[in-house]
Amino acid sequence: MLKTNSILDVVGNTPLVKLNKFLKPARFDLYAKLELLNPGGSIKDRTATKMLLEALKQGQINQQTTIIESSSGNLAIGLAQACAYLNLKLICVMDINSTLTNRRLVEIYGATIDLVIEADPYSGGFLQARVNRVNQLLDLVSNSFNCNQYANVNNPKAHHQTMAEIANELSNKVDYLFVATSTCGTLRGCAEYIAQEGLNTKIIAVDAQGSVIFGDKPKKRLIPGHGAGIVPELFQPNLSSSHILVSDLDCILGCYQLLEREAIFAGGSSGAIASAILRYEEVIPSGSTYTF
Ligand SMILES: Cc1ncc(COP(=O)(O)O)c(C=O)c1O
Repeated sequence: MLKTNSILDVVGNTPLVKLNKFLKPARFDLYAKLELLNPGGSIKDRTATKMLLEALKQGQINQQTTIIESSSGNLAIGLAQACAYLNLKLICVMDINSTLTNRRLVEIYGATIDLVIEADPYSGGFLQARVNRVNQLLDLVSNSFNCNQYANVNNPKAHHQTMAEIANELSNKVDYLFVATSTCGTLRGCAEYIAQEGLNTKIIAVDAQGSVIFGDKPKKRLIPGHGAGIVPELFQPNLSSSHILVSDLDCILGCYQLLEREAIFAGGSSGAIASAILRYEEVIPSGSTYTF
């Protein structure tokens, strides 16, 4: 698909790249879905576009609506780009842990950043503090709308397509799928598609140490993307067959391993998955196909 009608049509249909050099020796086929090639640079472009287009279609928002959303970075960039194209106003509630690059990108697309500088006193986390600030802004700004990526069913629905792309490319032969988790939209969307199509794919969820989704004790995390300080409403315990928690340091090592072995310079959540695969490698039967 080289000719499209708009930048929004460029979201999705990302390449699936075979990693020939990542595992030494390779006992199974390993593929990486290059979500970094979405126009805003991450998988969250899919979520952003789907939530906005569905809200427009269902009449929940109109040209005068201000979108208000909490994001540590990648969803904010996806929303900022889509809102710029759709002529919608956007206020992104970000926190001081978001990178300066991400904040700058959001501003370049014309969105306003509302920066949270203090963690929530009860949970100790920034995610709850950002959610609290979103609720304040929704009261203050008339005709405002919160997509609420943590509970919006259009978030997982966006990833029916993600999983369909993987399954179609591999003729439905996907033995394992490694998925990074935060809102659990990707996890749930892929799991729903797998169940709906009767595929025989096991999902391994990859989360951050110190993220509470799978019951770990909350602690400071430095890598944005995967991990959450609250259990999202979209989470369901049976979506994955197991989960792996990865430290910030292992994410960085995973990024370097992908770079050195495959010349792919990906972000922190891909580094987490790369590290999780190396840890899980022994358990995977020879001859399997697996994807992240
Ligand atoms: C780069 C990246 N990967 C993975 C995730 C996790 O995806 P989800 O929110 O669908 O669980 C996020 C979430 O923000 C992300 O930014």
